[in-house]
Amino acid sequence: MNGFHPAAGVSVRAVEAADHAAIATVVDTAFAAAAHADGTEAALVAELRAAGGIACEWVAVEGTAPVGHIAFSAVTLDGRDCNWFGLAPLAVAPAYQGRGIGARLVRTGLAALQARGAGGCVVLGEPAYYARFGFAALPVLVCAWPVPPQYFQALAWQPLACAGIVRYHPLFGSV
Ligand SMILES: CC(C)(COP(=O)(O)OP(=O)(O)OC[C@H]1O[C@@H](n2cnc3c(N)ncnc32)[C@H](O)[C@@H]1OP(=O)(O)O)[C@@H](O)C(=O)NCCC(=O)NCCS
Repeated sequence: MNGFHPAAGVSVRAVEAADHAAIATVVDTAFAAAAHADGTEAALVAELRAAGGIACEWVAVEGTAPVGHIAFSAVTLDGRDCNWFGLAPLAVAPAYQGRGIGARLVRTGLAALQARGAGGCVVLGEPAYYARFGFAALPVLVCAWPVPPQYFQALAWQPLACAGIVRYHPLFGSV
């Protein structure tokens, strides 16, 4: 914990256009150290923005400097728009990891989605990390990509009106 209050001096707010370049650096450096990354995450964020595919995104800043970022985009369930979202990507600059910044980004984004009436959110990632936010594998929701089912988790805020194959924005997997 580095001997000081977790994430002291770091705040989370909605992303502004002036943050974009620094966010790309945060995403690049965070994923450079991640075994599962392919180096396209920052480009994906930029492409999604340009395509209007980001539903909401949040930045963690120390002063004015971005140190973490999270984005959410709409997903379809069984080919239908059911007001569900996918959490991706999530990145915290390596020097700032382990201080609860990632958790604050996740909680801020999820609260905002829930407040605007979203049905739920899915995430493809480490179950050990995302379970703390209430995510759990839901057998009726299946990721369109061939991933181990325990890595695909969901958090439902409303009774499931749709089920089946979950598809992210087409830019995922194509950038
Ligand atoms: C994942 C990530 C965003 C977490 O950010 P963070 O600010 O360090 O997260 P927090 O401080 O909120 O949480 C830290 C906790 O998460 C755990 N954690 C971090 N990455 C993890 C992973 N891949 N699997 C399981 N647990 C993980 C830490 O061990 C720590 O556990 P503890 O609370 O029991 O001590 C950050 O490690 C990161 O940017 N990683 C590279 C990019 C990435 O993998 N993004 C997620 C893609 S799905």
